[in-house]
Amino acid sequence: MKIDIDIDEKKKNYTVFINELRSLNFDSKVAIITNPKVSGLHLETLLEKLESKELYIVTVPDGEEHKNLQTINFILDRLYEHQLDRRSTLIAFGGGVVGDMTGFAASIFLRGIDFIQIPTTLLSQVDASVGGKTGVNNRFGKNLIGAFYQPKAVYCETEFLKTLQDREFSAGVAEIVKMAVTFDREFFEWLEKNSLKDEANLQKAIKKCIEIKAKVVSLDEKESGIRAVLNYGHTFAHVIENETNYKRYLHGEAVAIGMVMANTLAISLGLLDENEVKRIKELLESYSLPTSYKIDNITNFYEAFLHDKKSINKKLKFILPKHLGGYEIRDDIKKELILDTLSKVNSEQ
Ligand SMILES: NC(=O)c1ccc[n+]([C@@H]2O[C@H](COP(=O)([O-])OP(=O)(O)OC[C@H]3O[C@@H](n4cnc5c(N)ncnc54)[C@H](O)[C@@H]3O)[C@@H](O)[C@H]2O)c1
Ligand SMILES: [Zn+2]
Repeated sequence: MKIDIDIDEKKKNYTVFINELRSLNFDSKVAIITNPKVSGLHLETLLEKLESKELYIVTVPDGEEHKNLQTINFILDRLYEHQLDRRSTLIAFGGGVVGDMTGFAASIFLRGIDFIQIPTTLLSQVDASVGGKTGVNNRFGKNLIGAFYQPKAVYCETEFLKTLQDREFSAGVAEIVKMAVTFDREFFEWLEKNSLKDEANLQKAIKKCIEIKAKVVSLDEKESGIRAVLNYGHTFAHVIENETNYKRYLHGEAVAIGMVMANTLAISLGLLDENEVKRIKELLESYSLPTSYKIDNITNFYEAFLHDKKSINKKLKFILPKHLGGYEIRDDIKKELILDTLSKVNSEQ
């Protein structure tokens, strides 16, 4: 299965391959960026399919808390030590954390070298690996440092997903639900009826998400419009992740809670009805995703929104689902209504 990603500038186009990774040949130096967990489980399988002039493995520590400039520096040092050059290629072999960092390192090493994504989590297959958003976190928040930098190809192999822990799998499902709710009612209804624990269904869902993402990215590579819709639930999720020091929740779990919070706001604006909200919540809960979070201090939570890089001139932008399969981007929501939503969210638990 193949899905083409068309970016305005034709030379940036690339293809996402689903279960098509048979052999990869390079006539230049290659560095695989991975972490100990993924390399322990799957590196051997990958190496059997790979041929290159010289191959290096750069292993970075596992975890979102290592998605920072220090790790980028570590990667860059290894690339210089191994004397990679402008013709070299980086391969991101891991989840979204490895993917985002590898892409960013590729974008700045010698002012930009090629990179390929081989995502190994569900979340990174359906979302993070496609579209060219790369970067790291800093103490002010998530993904605040980075670049738009497209990969040369993406290879999604469902085989790799078999070793994912249940929580990690579900975190990926949250991003799948996100796309269905905002872009495709039929897909949402299909998800209600078909379990993603089934391999054939899973492959179908991955394909569907990549098709949705392909369309969105081709219309709006740099997120000046429709691409922002992929941030449904994320404005809330980023604050939750930050408040809990990226420890209590996986990104996808925080997104699940964030979507439910956004839905509460959407109800107040007449964009969703109670039944639709219930259906979204039930779908998330059927994959054991969390759907509530106790906000300790509503004012602080609100203030934290303003630090999100998506708030331009302190204008908060919310992505809200419009019934199932639609969306609205709103930057005109009054502070009172947001505060009111946050207290509603708290009392509904
Ligand atoms: N660039 C984008 O457009 C985009 C979109 C969504 C999310 N993201 C980013 O992606 C990150 C989250 O990605 P993630 O959920 O993949 O997290 P992750 O990369 O931390 O992976 C989750 C865990 O699963 C492990 N793992 C990876 N592959 C495995 C496998 N096959 N079997 C068993 N364990 C495996 C990892 O080592 C890690 O411990 C966040 O940093 C988020 O900001 C980026
Ligand atoms: Zn996300």
